[in-house]
Amino acid sequence: MEIRTIGVIGAGQMGNGIAHVMALAGYDVLLNDIDAEVLDKALATVRKNMERQVNRGKITAEEMETALARISPTLTLTDLGNTDLVIEAATERESVKQQIFDELVPHLQDHTILTSNTSSISITRLASRTDRPGRFMGFHFMNPVPVMQLVELIRGIATERETYDACLTVVENLGKTAASAEDFPAFIVNRILMPMINEAVYTLYEGVGNVRSIDQSMKLGANHPMGPLELADFIGLDTCLAIMNVLHDGLADTKYRPCPLLTKYVEAGWLGRKAGRGFYDYGGEEPVPTR
Ligand code: CAA
Repeated sequence: MEIRTIGVIGAGQMGNGIAHVMALAGYDVLLNDIDAEVLDKALATVRKNMERQVNRGKITAEEMETALARISPTLTLTDLGNTDLVIEAATERESVKQQIFDELVPHLQDHTILTSNTSSISITRLASRTDRPGRFMGFHFMNPVPVMQLVELIRGIATERETYDACLTVVENLGKTAASAEDFPAFIVNRILMPMINEAVYTLYEGVGNVRSIDQSMKLGANHPMGPLELADFIGLDTCLAIMNVLHDGLADTKYRPCPLLTKYVEAGWLGRKAGRGFYDYGGEEPVPTR
């Protein structure tokens, strides 16, 4: 089946990036959020990020305007019922996602493929509570979406071949690369990345290094573009902790035990860049390590 229109639920960091790349690839996008202010901010962010691409010669100003015109914001979730593919990118809480699917599913066309950008929640479980487990799967983008080349495609136990193939075609049309993952806790990227970040927090907790030396070690010693603590702040410490908990609960192995210091930062509301403070303080010109 051919996908032309795409509904994106949630206009936050991931949702606006997904709308951005879909519109540039020629898809009509309906971008939904419950908060009008978040929607306005998302459209401004997409414009700013596309302008960056124009300035770097990646796209033309005309391509930018055409793409921006393809994104229609809406506060009404059920408007997405008429799209061919829905990507849910709301808050990473199962109850929130469940509520969204409960409201949306009765309005979907039969052929619509329903997907979630979840970074760790079971696709099979989310799918089983909809009317279309065969046309449900995981469609997981990396942050920042316009820059990162990978999309993880996660099949639930009931996902049909046609569903997977249709999503794979969309990824290819974006000019991105798909990695196929089975539906086990945190899939591939976060199964590997989060224990590394958690270990970096243990390294800090045990005093083996400080924030700067840990990040420098991995940047200069392992050629990572960001140090693990800087990356944790970028992703959001609440998200990192939530994913560690999914790994710990889902695989029942103590090697996934979240570091108590990570828990403490989240309890303090020091959630990283979005909160202005995490392992770094973002209040000044340059981020300043907090330990
Ligand atoms: N939109 C469009 N373009 C953007 C952008 C955005 N939001 N953010 C950055 N860019 C572009 C810049 O314009 C620049 O373009 P050129 O290559 O043409 O010059 C390029 O990306 C690099 O950006 P900067 O020069 O500003 O900064 P940088 O070199 O420090 O790179 C970074 C920034 C791409 C974020 C880099 O630090 C990086 O790759 N970090 C690691 C990111 C990562 O690991 N992401 C995965 C997180 S895990 C995840 O997302 C999964 C999950 O479920 C939690």
